[in-house]
Amino acid sequence: MNGFPPILAEINDLSKDQINWLLYSAKRFKLGVVPVGKYQISDSHQPIIATSFLENSTRTKHSFVIAIQKLGAMYVDFNTETSSLKKGESLEETLLTLRHQGVDLCIIRTSVSHQFDEFKAAPPIRIINGGDGINQHPTQALLDLMTFMDDGSKVSGGTVGIIGDCVHSRVAHSLMELLPQFGCKIILAGPEECLPKKLDSRLDSSMFHLTNDTKEAILKSDFLYLLRIQKERHSGPATYYDGYLQKHGVSLARLEHMLSGGEISKIPFVYHPGPANVGVELDHALMKSRYYRAHAQVTNSVYMRMAIIKAMLANLGEKDE
Ligand code: CP
Repeated sequence: MNGFPPILAEINDLSKDQINWLLYSAKRFKLGVVPVGKYQISDSHQPIIATSFLENSTRTKHSFVIAIQKLGAMYVDFNTETSSLKKGESLEETLLTLRHQGVDLCIIRTSVSHQFDEFKAAPPIRIINGGDGINQHPTQALLDLMTFMDDGSKVSGGTVGIIGDCVHSRVAHSLMELLPQFGCKIILAGPEECLPKKLDSRLDSSMFHLTNDTKEAILKSDFLYLLRIQKERHSGPATYYDGYLQKHGVSLARLEHMLSGGEISKIPFVYHPGPANVGVELDHALMKSRYYRAHAQVTNSVYMRMAIIKAMLANLGEKDE
């Protein structure tokens, strides 16, 4: 499928057909239908792909690097600390420089929300957003959707409880754009400071419910998605942090208690984009239980990012699947 945008900054940059194609393509990589190796993207041109992580990452960066190498592309690790960004060069000039060196695509993480808006009119290079501030993390949401579907979690006609620091979570913002398109309602749960004051006007408010009551979210959800409290993004102290696990977090004992009391019929799958703050939004026992699916998300991240890269480079003379 062609027509993917030169910049994937947010979920809304993709049509639903394109999202479905990514799910199909990622699944084919996962099942081994598409052989992994050289020339996955183009017969005539070995793509060059750079990563530029201006903010820390374990999962996103390394899954992109593995995806790049599985696709047979050349990989450039753009080291921001030793780059001329440190001498005051702009990001736009940096990206233009990479493009003129032959780089085809740059995967960027930045602490600046909406960093890519300025590039949309005239993209200096193809860009995949690896997370921009508190705004969006589209590739995480796509790999999450793939994992929910693989697990048989009820997406269409179901409800996910997104519990934690929703307002500071770029992943939550991307899931809020993505999941309602697939018929999944969203409960946002957390202390008042962690919930949006109002929803983005582009969202269908009938698909959302907000609550401060974690128990209500658990009771009304088919599966759960926990978020880290992002202290580093708060403008003031997170006053609700002490005692968070008991009041707003999810422990295995809490879920087992609700199960034994007949309040829930089964313990739901629990997802997390990572990194998790153990002892805050969840406990160690839940993290080590079979209900916790974060490692399945990580596994799928490589396949989904392979599919996204391939789609973004489709017009390099690719072999369409
Ligand atoms: N999920 C996620 O973005 O994790 P990293 O910060 O480790 O990349």
